[in-house]
Amino acid sequence: MKRIILALCLAINLSLSAQNKLTLNFDDANIKIEKEIYGHFSEHLGTCIYEGIYVGEESDIPNINGYRTDVVEALKELKVPVLRWPGGCFADTYHWKDGIGPKEDRPSIVNVFWGGVTEDNSFGTHEFLNFCELIGTEPYLSINVGSGTVQEARDWVEYVTSSNESPMTALRKKNGREEPWDVKFWGIGNENWGCGGDMAPDYYANVFRNFSSYIRGDDFQKVICGPSEGDTNWTEKILETLDNKTYLAQGMSLHYYTLPTKDWSSKGSSTDFGEEMWFKTIKNTMVIEDYIQKHLAIMDKYDPEKKMKLMVDEWGTWYDKLPDTKEGFLQQQNTLRDALVAGINLNIFNNHADRISMANVAQIVNVLQSVIRTNGAQMVKTPTYYAFQLYNVHQDATLIPTSLETEKYEFEGESIPGLTASASEKDGVVNITITNANPEKAMPVNFDLGKSFKNISGKIVSAKNITDYNDFGKNEQVMIQDFEVAKAKGNNLNVEIPAHSIVLMQLQ
Ligand code: AHR
Repeated sequence: MKRIILALCLAINLSLSAQNKLTLNFDDANIKIEKEIYGHFSEHLGTCIYEGIYVGEESDIPNINGYRTDVVEALKELKVPVLRWPGGCFADTYHWKDGIGPKEDRPSIVNVFWGGVTEDNSFGTHEFLNFCELIGTEPYLSINVGSGTVQEARDWVEYVTSSNESPMTALRKKNGREEPWDVKFWGIGNENWGCGGDMAPDYYANVFRNFSSYIRGDDFQKVICGPSEGDTNWTEKILETLDNKTYLAQGMSLHYYTLPTKDWSSKGSSTDFGEEMWFKTIKNTMVIEDYIQKHLAIMDKYDPEKKMKLMVDEWGTWYDKLPDTKEGFLQQQNTLRDALVAGINLNIFNNHADRISMANVAQIVNVLQSVIRTNGAQMVKTPTYYAFQLYNVHQDATLIPTSLETEKYEFEGESIPGLTASASEKDGVVNITITNANPEKAMPVNFDLGKSFKNISGKIVSAKNITDYNDFGKNEQVMIQDFEVAKAKGNNLNVEIPAHSIVLMQLQ
């Protein structure tokens, strides 16, 4: 009897593993995964900049020139490749000259989009660009198109990047910076279909043409404001209005936020959720694949040589604000669910590396799906931090195209793919990242590796419960841990990916 049961178990196990298969295709491995896909976003919103990054030199919180030491160290360790600033909606209200020169002379403004708080402009262009240098990241500046002028934008570019003599560079030097900064990425407007001026697509595209012709620099990557979610009409009209002048933009943005409910008036809790909201969140995040494909099809029509890249410069989860936090500060908790969302999105972006050259999770500290949360002098690294750290191996690596057969994850009559995956190679190491969104069930996966490897090791981000998170002053519940992987048999490897987890396997 025992034997029969054992045989039955084995048969069930084999038939299950037959359903999940990842095949690596080394023959077509010739596309680089730009490191900027692992980018971040910082806005003058809530406690992202003030408190989260910048506390000022007089603060009791340990700091380096006003930047929190703990946050600087954590971000350096994370290898943040690019950081977008100053917004977001804030960018189209921001006049950069308010944020330079002696702090006591800088005017205050009201942050109209985010809580109506007073912005004293103590963190401006110098503070941001010096911060980027400190943490070793590329800056990505977002130009004010909604309420700014072409001249103002032109002056900013000259102030920041020129090494020639001019009134703007003289001003920069007077403010303490002799050498220009190296800024390659310039966003020309943000969400100009909404908070950035409520413009019609053809109107904005013409405004963009005007701005873009004066924003000049040798290796600049200028980003045109692209669509929200699946708004293909915006994409089509924008590209049509560019009228073959696609060279004016090296990138087009896409914004997509994952709401469990898809209802902006009641998005869902960031901490208090069961399997229904878990499933919906994962399902709603996977929709980005469909949006990407639709926008890329339109881009291919206007730009068959694929010169213009897609830059997902805002993405992440967006839940109801935490109780007792300020309206407009967008503070939410970050649980294992967010790590899964990150892993799934990053796999999707990697697999589109031929066209997606940048992505910026929103936002870096204390806002939405942040990698870091602070509370006074305390700081935690969130599950999303660890997802990014696990996936960092893909930065600037060569994408190995994969084909994935996956079981469905079913919940109350609906189903989504249980697994997602991507793979790359760098410095002789093959890295495979794989997510299992099923909250209960481990997934046996058969890997067809295409060649044999001597050494295989693994790492995992998971936790006991899907709602687990890292809290101030407590032991971490979600982090990176070692994951044991069995030996491969020739080109073949069988691994069971645990429930609600993201796994990295490294082969060489
Ligand atoms: O990230 C928060 C906001 O979301 C940004 O300011 C805006 O661009 C988007 O609507």
